[in-house]
Amino acid sequence: MDLWEIGFKYGDEVYYRCCNPDLGGWSSLYSFTVRQGGLLDAKGRGDDGPARSLPKDGPWPQPRPKIALIADMGIQFGQSTVDSITRFVQSGEVQLVVHAGDISYADDFSLVQHNNSFVWTEYMSIIEPFSARVPYMVGPGNHEAQYKFAAYLNWFHMPHNASQSESPFYYSFDYMGVHFVSMSTEHDFSPGSAQHRWLENDLRKADANRANVPWIFVHGHRPLYCSDILTWLTRCTVEAPRYRANMEGLFHKYKVDVYMAGHNHQYERSYPVYNMTVMSKNYHNPPATVYIVNGAAGNPELNDPTFVPESMAPWRAKNAVTENNGWMLMEVNATALDFKYLFSKNDEVFDRFTITKDKV
Ligand SMILES: [Fe+2]
Repeated sequence: MDLWEIGFKYGDEVYYRCCNPDLGGWSSLYSFTVRQGGLLDAKGRGDDGPARSLPKDGPWPQPRPKIALIADMGIQFGQSTVDSITRFVQSGEVQLVVHAGDISYADDFSLVQHNNSFVWTEYMSIIEPFSARVPYMVGPGNHEAQYKFAAYLNWFHMPHNASQSESPFYYSFDYMGVHFVSMSTEHDFSPGSAQHRWLENDLRKADANRANVPWIFVHGHRPLYCSDILTWLTRCTVEAPRYRANMEGLFHKYKVDVYMAGHNHQYERSYPVYNMTVMSKNYHNPPATVYIVNGAAGNPELNDPTFVPESMAPWRAKNAVTENNGWMLMEVNATALDFKYLFSKNDEVFDRFTITKDKV
């Protein structure tokens, strides 16, 4: 269904129910608001409505767009994060949810039950309170790799065609001042690969379009910077340097503002950093990309509160030494990206930082 062709316009509220003839029933009645740059049509073409560029000097839509950022959330232990995000969605504050891989953890059930597709069905029911109301944009993690990503490919149809990507595993889209890039750390992203070529082309165009879309936010499942104790000798000091060798030059060249990952079940953020060198101790006109690990949404492998000492990770600016579930709330305007890290159980703000620019 093309909402533009049948006459919907920005601000309209669309009410719908789903029917499954095989099951003989209707879903509850849900609704969503048609937002500028926030809607994906059934063909996955992305925000192809009219006049979607960002007004530089306003007027900004009210309330300003807020985006929920999560990674690593399963049917076990993820309920508190679902509930927390749903509170923000139902109040109208959160208008988009972005999930950077490890979705449902269905593969963790495969050893005890050959048919584990029920886990995906249950997961989609669990997230329905928010996913029925706002766009839910996902990227693949290592836990989606089972059966050649079959579940991921069948459940999700992200707008890769709209972003000239030949792969369903990586894509980009603009949403109210942010160019979101969902890359796949589960597929080849080394220089010369199809993904690397696509990413460079996409970032080049996005960097040239800052006047309309001032921010570039890249997310992939695996971190380029991490300081976890449990995986220090594997992910953080063996794998992450390989990923940095593949990607960090691109991020720096095209001034990617933020790279967010999950994979490690904890929260930490960096100073603006490039090539392991802290480029600034604040976030005003940052001269390099800021790296975030945001992987504690709730998973069956449990969260990990361990971190190496600060002296071993001097680029680390803040981390959450806790087993609490959490997620990030991002608020956008033309010269500021504001981040909060909230604990899911009570919406308490554990961390807040704001990236600001004098001009786009
Ligand atoms: Fe993972």
